[in-house]
Amino acid sequence: MRQTITLRRPDDWHLHLRDGAMLNVVLPYSARQFARAIVMPNLQPPVTTAGHAVAYRNRILAALPPGAQFEPLMTAYLCDATEPSDIRRGYEERILAAVKLYPAGATTHSEHGVTSMARVARTLETMQELGMPLLLHGESTDPAVDIFDREAVFIEKTLQPLLRDFPRLKVVLEHITTEEAADFVAGERSGRLAATVTPQHLIFNRNALFMGGLRPHQYCLPVLKRERHRLALRRLATSGFERIFIGTDSAPHIRRLKEAACGCAGVFNAPVALESYLMVFEEESALDRFEGFASVNGARFYGLPLNEERITFERREASGPGEVQMPTGDSVKVFLDGAVLPWTLLDTAEDRS
Ligand code: DOR
Ligand code: ZN
Repeated sequence: MRQTITLRRPDDWHLHLRDGAMLNVVLPYSARQFARAIVMPNLQPPVTTAGHAVAYRNRILAALPPGAQFEPLMTAYLCDATEPSDIRRGYEERILAAVKLYPAGATTHSEHGVTSMARVARTLETMQELGMPLLLHGESTDPAVDIFDREAVFIEKTLQPLLRDFPRLKVVLEHITTEEAADFVAGERSGRLAATVTPQHLIFNRNALFMGGLRPHQYCLPVLKRERHRLALRRLATSGFERIFIGTDSAPHIRRLKEAACGCAGVFNAPVALESYLMVFEEESALDRFEGFASVNGARFYGLPLNEERITFERREASGPGEVQMPTGDSVKVFLDGAVLPWTLLDTAEDRS
């Protein structure tokens, strides 16, 4: 049985770092594990321009622990009023790595999102020309659509026409949760459609939302689905398929806002992200495919260099934190609630000693 695993330092291709006091608390967990992360722009107000992204990037860099090597890759929040020239400048000046599309009303802070694809067509044309990826929160916002069907309906009603109308646009279907999404991404032949998947959607099905009572800390969007979907996601992620990669969607909210009459969507998984994914790959007898998923596929899709640094996991059971404290006195619950995980990431300094 293997006792250590060494691989290129991974990247997180979908991360919510928030801002202010929360940023300071959550950032070190991601910076410890990942070399780079695609940072989501759904602040309040959202990061909609290259100028906003520069300012946010500077706040992230200022919040890094001393000595941390971590590169935030910034995204702009697409809205009906987005200026294609600003997106072009942001990409050409390496301020923006991608653009995020939230259908208006789909999730947390998405009220400024896109109301129709026609309104953003000029920006999408510019991105297609540049080879700049469009990141999709892929859920239908039609209130008549059942919440468990929103991803499948989005694929049919929005993603398929989008891929047809913009035949060279690079697209990432973020945090996929269904067999329909897994099959669609795997079957798309042109090579310009990829997906990310979260640890929670690989580890839990929707029963976890109601285990002995309502479990607000398991609630995220897209919501957890049935077992057959979880199994399909695990098969695709661990299959060696090259267009699926890590996107934790780590999305911290303080306990008070989750344990509420109308609780916020989001799972804070950053402290245990890599150990959770690694557990899944071991359970699926796919440890040899972990490096591709964690450290290679995403960089290749984005056209970025692979990380040269290596990290090592040791087969040593350890539990992550159950929650983390905020200086404000609030706390944030952590994914898996302090459960024991089979592998432990060695700190780079410990690793070298
Ligand atoms: O669960 C989620 N939380 N899904 C999202 O799309 C947004 C995120 C957040 O920002 O809290
Ligand atoms: Zn997200």
